[in-house]
Order: sequence, then C-alpha cells, then structure tokens
Amino acid sequence: MTTHKELPASQPAAMRPMEYDVLGQLVRDVRPENTLEVGMANGQSTIEICRAAQQIGAVNHVSIDPFQSQPDGWGGRGITAVNEAGFGDAVELIEDFDYLALPRLVTENRKFEFILLDGWHSFDFTLTDFFFADLLLATGGVVVFHDSALPAVHKVCRFVETHKAYELVSPPPSVELNSITSKIIRRAATFLKGREARKGAHLRRTRWYSLAAYRKLKDLQVGNTFFESF
Ligand SMILES: C[S@@+](CC[C@H](N)C(=O)[O-])C[C@H]1O[C@@H](n2cnc3c(N)ncnc32)[C@H](O)[C@@H]1O
Repeated sequence: MTTHKELPASQPAAMRPMEYDVLGQLVRDVRPENTLEVGMANGQSTIEICRAAQQIGAVNHVSIDPFQSQPDGWGGRGITAVNEAGFGDAVELIEDFDYLALPRLVTENRKFEFILLDGWHSFDFTLTDFFFADLLLATGGVVVFHDSALPAVHKVCRFVETHKAYELVSPPPSVELNSITSKIIRRAATFLKGREARKGAHLRRTRWYSLAAYRKLKDLQVGNTFFESF
C-alpha cells in the first residue's frame, strides 16, 4: 500500500444519528444491488447501509479505507463491528487509498447503484472521489456526499449541479457560514425565495444536516470547452 501522510485522526468518526436514519432510508428507496462507500472508520455507515440493503434484498457492499487496520488508524474497529453485526461475508473491505482503489473498480467493470463519499474532505480528494463514483454509478443510482457543508465538499456538490446530469434528491446543500451577518442574510434570502426554499432549508437543518444526495440521470462527459462558474 502506498504511504500517505494524512491519518484519519483529524476527522470526526461518525455522522449524526439522524443522518444514519436518512442514509438507511435512501438505500431502501434506491433499492441498490451493489453499494460502495469511501470511508469506513468505526463502521457505522457500513452497518447502516448493509442493514438497509438487507431489508430490501441482498447485501453486496464495498468499503474503501486505507487506515482501517492500522494501529494508529482505526485499529480494525470498523470491520470488527461489521463482523459482529453479521455482515462480514457481504462486505469487501479495500484497504487502500480512494485514488488507487476506485480506478481499479472501474477497470474491473464494477457498477454500483448507491455510493457514499465520506473519505478525505479536501476539494481535490472529494472531486477525485466523485469523478470515479460517476464512472462507477449506474444510471438511476444515487451518490451521497457527507459533510456537504464544508466549503470544499460543497464546491464539489456545486460542480455536480452545474456540470453533470444529476438531479438533487436531498434539499439543496448549504455551505457553512462563519459570520452571524452572513447567516442572517441567507435566512432572509431563503425566506424571500418562497415556501419550497423555506421547506428545503428546514429539512436541511432538522433532518439531512450535511448529507447531500444526487441521482444520476445519464452518463455525461463535460464538453471540452464547457465551463460554468460554480
Ligand atoms: C468521517 S470518517 C468516515 C465515517 C464513516 N463513513 C461513518 O459514518 O461511520 C472518514 C474516513 O475516511 C477515511 N479516509 C481518509 N483518507 C482516505 C483516503 N484517501 N481514501 C479513502 N478513505 C480515506 C478515514 O480513514 C476515515 O475512516
């Protein structure tokens, strides 16, 4: 395995409980045959995805995490939890970096109907994850970003919305703002946009939090000369 200086210690290891509920519901709605995630950590998202997949059919899950077994990483806690939950045989853990593991899955002609991106949240890693997720996702499948309020992840969501053939499944993602003034201005703008915008913002704050989900409408390679600010 290639070495990489970034260990997972600086990242929170879990989502909010409500986000796991939403994740499970998304899987039940999409009814995927094959699921994929980047970022296993303590295994909570893995178990949630597997439980939901089991409720609607079979569990075939791939999880990519280079730090799962490392003593200074997750020390195997995620995969142990997955085994204890009874999903060990249905989960393929790839202990390698996203940028190496994802292209291998493309080479193997693998397809997934549900993909969670919750790995390293810098802009370059997130865009790389999405680039490969787009190649791996079946038409009609759903890609989910966690931490979509982080500016770098939010920017990738905006790229998806402006450049690719995807439709929003979640309420529009909302980037984190530092100043009270900016927050007040955004609230006022949302209020003025009308009922739908207010409802979306409410669901974002109370249910979806930092999950953003998009359904793939078709394969679409961005044109050579196409660019729109995002
Ligand atoms: C926020 S945690 C994931 C939490 C998990 N999805 C959950 O809800 O239970 C981020 C994960 O990304 C992993 N990670 C960090 N850099 C990565 C990379 N380059 N490729 C794949 N995974 C990476 C970390 O080891 C960590 O497990």
